[in-house]
Amino acid sequence: MLLAIETSCDDTAACLYQDGQVLSHVVYRQEMHASFGGVIPEWASREHEVKLPLAIQAALSQAEKSYSDLKVVAAAQGPGLIGSLLIGSVYARALAAAWGIPFIGVHHLEAHVLSLELSERPISYPILVLVATGGHTHLFRVLHPLRMELVGRTIDDAVGEAFDKVAASLGLPYPGGPQIETIAQSGDKEAIAFPLPHTPNPWDFSFSGLKTAFLYARQKYPDLPLSDLCASWQHTVAVYLTEKLIGAAKAFQISRIGLVGGVAANAYLRQYLHTQAAAQGYDLYLAPMAYCMDNAAMIAVAAWHRYLNGLYSNLTDPPFAR
Ligand code: KG4
Ligand code: ZN
Repeated sequence: MLLAIETSCDDTAACLYQDGQVLSHVVYRQEMHASFGGVIPEWASREHEVKLPLAIQAALSQAEKSYSDLKVVAAAQGPGLIGSLLIGSVYARALAAAWGIPFIGVHHLEAHVLSLELSERPISYPILVLVATGGHTHLFRVLHPLRMELVGRTIDDAVGEAFDKVAASLGLPYPGGPQIETIAQSGDKEAIAFPLPHTPNPWDFSFSGLKTAFLYARQKYPDLPLSDLCASWQHTVAVYLTEKLIGAAKAFQISRIGLVGGVAANAYLRQYLHTQAAAQGYDLYLAPMAYCMDNAAMIAVAAWHRYLNGLYSNLTDPPFAR
């Protein structure tokens, strides 16, 4: 019986996990950042402190278990907001010390990658996985659940961050991705052609120019329906991510590709990537919708692999922001 905790950013989550099965998982998404265009770190930590014990309690009671049933406890150790990480990490290490059970610190991005294993469909390795979140846009060549190599990353904004900034420029609440997706639903994706960004390393990403291009287009075409603008911009992001992912898969001769992280919850992106992967003969794995945004089930999967391999952490290991 493994208890996993996730508090890297603004979501407070707990999961009970055993033998490849999620027994219960609870996520409290913090609403108080909505009108500020992004997460206020100090508020996030304070809210974790209040909500984490409640999330763990709820996960235990949903699974009809108690603290004494736990055999191992895991928490996200980083990267993320240090104050937020400390709440989950210290809580987990205190539980491990009190109950005399192992503690496993998990890398947040490794956990996002392994959220693919929460899908019904069994996964095989190697696989090329794009982690698309509010803080990261990282492309990994995953050789084994615990062995991944960074192939490319954003040189400026993360893709989710670009969605959030574009939404904030329109006065829409944080997180902005779902807001843009909703507005784009009724729009014409061909209304505006945004240029695809270039980076010195072909497998890196850049989003700051694309974000600025949205702001310029909004000024240049004030009469264009917002839905058309959002649909065109979202389509460009989907084309860009897809070209990178499939392009890198081709270059590295890997036939399996995966998409995970908060931005993987975007239905347009999922559909576009699915169509392109099918047309070009790539085997696509998508994180289940329930496990795209931050959650503790993905922390549990990563910790489970470490547990099976005896890779425990020290109770003195501190969390890390980067
Ligand atoms: O993985 P996640 O929950 O947290 C991080 O590790 O950052 O990702 C959050 C990000 C936010 O930037 C949010 O706007 C974006 O994921 N996001 C979306 C959608 N749902 C969440 N972006 C585009 N479309 C969505 N439907
Ligand atoms: Zn995340």
